[in-house]
Amino acid sequence: MARRKKLYEGKAKILYEGPEPGTLVQYFKDDATAFNAEKKDVIEGKGVLNNRLSEFFMTGLANIGVPNHFLKRLNMREQLIRQVEIIPLEVIVRNFAAGSICKRLGLEEGTPLPRPIVEFSYKDDALGDPLVPEEYIIAFGWASQQDLDDIVALALRVNDFLTGVMFGVGIKLVDFKIEIGRIWDNDFMRLIVADEISPDSCRLWDIETGQKLDKDVFRRDLGSLTDAYTEVARRLGVLPSNVTHAAKPHVIN
Ligand code: TMP
Ligand code: ASP
Repeated sequence: MARRKKLYEGKAKILYEGPEPGTLVQYFKDDATAFNAEKKDVIEGKGVLNNRLSEFFMTGLANIGVPNHFLKRLNMREQLIRQVEIIPLEVIVRNFAAGSICKRLGLEEGTPLPRPIVEFSYKDDALGDPLVPEEYIIAFGWASQQDLDDIVALALRVNDFLTGVMFGVGIKLVDFKIEIGRIWDNDFMRLIVADEISPDSCRLWDIETGQKLDKDVFRRDLGSLTDAYTEVARRLGVLPSNVTHAAKPHVIN
């Protein structure tokens, strides 16, 4: 294949021009960052694992009717995705208290929340992705009230799906972050799940032991990140060595 044009390079992924209009190639790097890239490292094999895991979650979501950007895995580190216009928000869903909500409210890590809490951060590295109320999102035109209602509904469906899938392999879904993109079919705009779903963007704890199996292992220097992500992939049956076929492309309708 001819060398593709790089369109965007983020902290963990690169986006290249896709083979057809409306598509992109998403490349998963081994780079890990935390605390707004204050802490950085290269974790051998992380990109390969996240490519597989994001494929697994996005394919499962498509199968239950949650629209998303994933089209097809291309190779160990790359997947074909639909080009979307990313809404500049990190959509976070929390089931148990961990991370920033503990600092903000003085909660003990692991406290069950009264119901899943959906919150939004404004995607801006220079500002440290600040938490923003819906009022800001609507006033600044990042999304409309209708968009936000749709985004919350999508996020809660993703939460139910991921919670069930992870529970099935003995893992508690504490919280996660997704990003949402807009696509247009002629004049009709739709919102779909985009970016990635992987242990980089979730908190995953072993149900029995509480062992952390997500990026907190890196953030807090708790051991080998590759071992943690490999364990998640192994339990889900998506270790590269187990997979002998490429995922079938699916069409969003
Ligand atoms: P937080 O507790 O630090 O706000 O994180 C909530 C969830 O969002 C957690 O699963 C990690 C994920 N997350 C990202 O994916 N990217 C980020 O930049 C941040 C801050 C959190
Ligand atoms: N993704 C953010 C960073 O790279 C923060 C985090 O995930 O902890 O700095």
